[in-house]
Amino acid sequence: MKKIICEDALSAAQIAADVFERQVKEKPACVLGLATGSTPVRLYNELVSRCTAGRIDFSRVRTFNLDEYYPIKPEHRQSYSAFMNEHLFSKVKFASTHLLSGEASDPHEECARYDAEIEAAGGIDLQLLGLGHNGHIGFNEPAVSYSMGSYLVDLTEDTLKANSRFFGENEPQPTQSLTMGIGSIFKARKILLLITGEGKADITKKLFDGMLHTDVPACFILLHPNVTVVIDKAAAAKL
Ligand code: GLP
Repeated sequence: MKKIICEDALSAAQIAADVFERQVKEKPACVLGLATGSTPVRLYNELVSRCTAGRIDFSRVRTFNLDEYYPIKPEHRQSYSAFMNEHLFSKVKFASTHLLSGEASDPHEECARYDAEIEAAGGIDLQLLGLGHNGHIGFNEPAVSYSMGSYLVDLTEDTLKANSRFFGENEPQPTQSLTMGIGSIFKARKILLLITGEGKADITKKLFDGMLHTDVPACFILLHPNVTVVIDKAAAAKL
């Protein structure tokens, strides 16, 4: 594992963008695994600037996102599909972009279809991850067992509360989501975990305390043979 602690969230985004840039230069037709949440927004801005400046060419790159609320329509402003369009897909040209569908009639079938699609694309070369306050990855919530493939998950109270800030007062918030499993994430050839902000200091401390906490899904990710963790000083404050 490579752990990089940087000054602030902006420099964390730049270092993460360097990892993306290297990946795309090394393999122009690579497959990227993408994430949502507030953490990757600065990274996506940086990727858009580098692409506009002609530094990175994403035109042969295919992307797969980690997760999506369920049920939700892609045009809902809080869907991860809308998030990706707003921050990246409307600004950068990719060969193709893929998300789990929040409006699939059979969520289990949709998960199997998505896993097969990733497999058919040759697997993910570089998977970006953020970190939930409770240690979740994608929407893999703390549990006693973890899924090998994509699955339908009930969100925990913690996560619903953390993400309620994005939904309007009278706007119904989905209580379930579709997410790649810990096993699917582990299949990526490289993993980049990005952690920023003082609100993540406690969970970051637990993640790096030398124990494999089974109730911190992100701990499993640290066992991956090619993982880079980029942390800003605020999130690293308790290390
Ligand atoms: C959501 C997403 C995760 C993300 C997490 C943290 O729950 N499903 O993929 O890592 O939020 O979000 P933030 O970066 O806003 O703290």
